[in-house]
This record gives sequence, C-alpha cells and structure tokens, in this order.
Amino acid sequence: VTAAAAAARFEGEAGSIVELLSPAGLACRRLLLVGTGPADKLDALAAERIGGAIAARLQTSGETHVNVDVAGALAGDLAAHLAHGAVLRSWRFDPYRTRLKDKQKPTLASLAIIGGDGAAAHARLAAIADGVARTRALVSEPANILFPESFVERARDLAALGIELTILDEAEMARLGMGALLGVAQGSVRKPRILAMRWNGTGRDDVKPVVFVGKGVTFDTGGISLKPPAGMEDMKWDMGGAGAVTGAMHALAARKAKAHVVGVVGLVENMPDGNAQRPGDVVTTMNGQTVEVINTDAEGRLVLCDAIWWAQETFDPEIVVDLATLTGAIIISLGHEHAGMFANDDGLAEQLRSAGAAVGEKLWRMPIGEAYDKLIDSDIADIKNVGPREGGSITAAQFIARFLKPGVKWAHLDIAGTVWASKAGAVHDKGATGYGVRLLDRLVADNFEA
Ligand code: BES
Ligand code: MN
Ligand code: ZN
Repeated sequence: VTAAAAAARFEGEAGSIVELLSPAGLACRRLLLVGTGPADKLDALAAERIGGAIAARLQTSGETHVNVDVAGALAGDLAAHLAHGAVLRSWRFDPYRTRLKDKQKPTLASLAIIGGDGAAAHARLAAIADGVARTRALVSEPANILFPESFVERARDLAALGIELTILDEAEMARLGMGALLGVAQGSVRKPRILAMRWNGTGRDDVKPVVFVGKGVTFDTGGISLKPPAGMEDMKWDMGGAGAVTGAMHALAARKAKAHVVGVVGLVENMPDGNAQRPGDVVTTMNGQTVEVINTDAEGRLVLCDAIWWAQETFDPEIVVDLATLTGAIIISLGHEHAGMFANDDGLAEQLRSAGAAVGEKLWRMPIGEAYDKLIDSDIADIKNVGPREGGSITAAQFIARFLKPGVKWAHLDIAGTVWASKAGAVHDKGATGYGVRLLDRLVADNFEA
C-alpha cells in the first residue's frame, strides 16, 4: 500500500484516493486509500467531502458494499458525517433513463463504518439527507410532470411525519385577493396552489413560528415577456425555493426538531397565452397595494408578495425567510458559490450566514435601502415589478420588502445560482443540488430549538 501510494504521488489531501485492484494477499477486490487532509482541518464538512469522494468513486464500480475503516482517523460525529457525505453524493435521478447499460447502473448499496462512533448523529443526518433527496427530486422533475397540483400531491405524504398541510386553491386565493399571484397564473392551464406545511415540535401552542416561504414557479417561460429559447429548459427548476422549503420541512419533522416552523410555497406556472397578463397591466395584491407589471418575466416577486402576506396574516411569525430563484443578476454577481442574502435584521443575517458556512451552503449578504427602494415606484400604481437593469437582484428584494409587516425580521435568499449545478460537486452530482435544506435545518437547530 505504501508503495502504491508513493507511485500515485498520494499526499493525503482530503478526499484524494489511491485505488488498488485485487491487492495481493487480501480477500477484497479493491482497497482504497483515502486522504483525510491535515487533522486540524478535519471538520464535519471535510468528512462529508471524504464520504462523497468514496461514494463517487465506487457508485458504479460494480462493488455493492464498502467497509470504511476510520479507526484513529475520524473521531466523534465525523464518521457519521462521512456517511452523510456518501449518501448525499450517491443521489441520482434515473426514473426516465430506461436504457441504461449495466455498467452505467449504480451498484453501491451499502457502506459500513468500522472503528468509529456517531450512530446518534447518523439518525439526525439521515433525516436531513431524506429532506435533501426530496428537494432534489422535486427540482429535477420536468414541468410536464411537476406542476402546482402535482407538487401538492407529492407533498401529501409529509402528513405521515406529523406535518399539518393547508392547501389554497384558485377560488380561495381569489377570495383572499391575491391578484399578483393569480395574475402570473392566468396565462397557464395549470391551476395555481399555495401549500402550507406546519411542524410544531415544541409541545406548546404559544410559540410564534419561523416561516419559510418558497418561490414555486414550476415553469417560467417569461410569459408575454417571453424568454429566449436557449437554456429555457432550465426554468423547470424555477421552483427551487419551494423545493428547498419542502425538503427542509421534511428534514425538520423527520428528526423531530423541537421548533415551530411553517413552510409556505407559492405554486404557479408562468406561460404566455390568450389569457396571459400583459406588460403594463395593473394588479392588486392581497394587502391592497397595486403593482404595475412592467415585465411578466419578473413573476417570482409577484408570487412571493401574496404568499408572504398570507403567511404573515395566517401564522403571525416573528421571522420570515424566503428562498427564490429570483434573478439572473444574482448569478452575475455571485456566480454559483454563494447565494445572495438580503435582510432587514443583522442578527438574522448573521444566523443565516453562520448556518450556511457550517453546512457548506454559503450566503453572501447584499445591500438594501431607501435609495434602491425608490427605483420601483410606479407612475400609475404603487409599485412596478422591475427597476432598471442595474442592481436587479437588489430591486427584486426591495419589492418583497414592501410586503413585510412592521417588526417582522426578514431575509430573502436569492438562490438562482445554487439550485442547479452543471458539474458534480463534493456532495452532489451534476443537476439538482438540494441547496437550502441543510441551511434551513441548521438555522433552526442553532437558533430556534428548545
Ligand atoms: N426565474 C428567473 C430568474 C432566473 C434566471 C433563475 C436564470 C435562474 C436562472 C426570474 O423569474 C426572471 O426571469 N428574472 C428576470 C427579472 C428581470 C425581468 C427583471 C431576470 O433575472 O432576467
Ligand atoms: Mn421570470
Ligand atoms: Zn422565474
């Protein structure tokens, strides 16, 4: 093994691997020597990277089982984090591949940790991984399969975890006056929905909830302000915020978090048809403010404003965090490394930043303020749905900010750059990343659990 390591110029970096096939004198078919990196940098994230690297290497190798000997290398919960990384990295979306060759099919089915503890941590992390898997599946589904009504149907099994579901249909939303959300939906034959998922693990009914709100545009053509064809297929994941909120609720309930949390998702499809809203239309939102729809492709904020207002009226939260694939501009600003964070409260912003850093779902805070807010004043209505091209992510956040009740602490996470990956990462394959689930779970664990 030492000679093989030298021959491979192995330096032990975290997740680096030397693979020996049919090692002489051993009964196994394969022996992997896996680097852990320097001991002082070996934290939960590094352990997850290592597990991810092992899973990626072996997933379609023909092996069905791997024993990972961590004795003397990974202390405490780190072994559980290695397993967590392996589970996260192994997730694939294959339901529509009917002609996979045997060699392309995953074989690795189990991983055993030898010489480590962390079984308790594992149960908790397994719940989180299930939430991530739920999100990734929702994000990966094409829009002919996943639309507002089918999204809701797929969430019904959350009730078995103890989550209370509330569903609003079009008639109910019309009665409530959600003209902005309904304006987006009116160009599609798919009927809109709002879905609320409530988990109260506090054992008390006097604890104000933390509310998460997700943008759930199951497909975004742009509407009459039609998007160009190139890359439009990506807009099946314009429900990534709703997916993250749903997966986070799954994780929290599955691990029985001692917190009161509500997830609300606004589900619509943005299509151009004879009944679609037009640029220049004025709609009235649930809280009475009027909006001039300058660009029908700036639809996410129109969905969020009514969903957030309804969530505040219904659940009286102290804290609202919304997640949305809201702007292409945030990808120009931050690329795919950080999601953009906008917040009206420094404490909440720091809680989110720190939770994101801990789980490897990073956030970078962006500015908001009065000078930006002025840019979305309309000549004919109270607000217009787009500002100038410059600062497009910021004016989008300002739009949402106009729908907060006084005293509510709020953060808006623009996750357009982090929901989908064109390349595999440490703990995800290419495709849906599941971004947001671990972040929200950690935010709750660190700050809102009894
Ligand atoms: N869903 C898009 C934002 C988006 C773009 C997400 C690319 C992921 C990748 C959003 O609804 C949108 O179209 N935003 C417009 C806003 C503009 C019209 C002010 C945009 O970013 O171009
Ligand atoms: Mn759009
Ligand atoms: Zn959109």
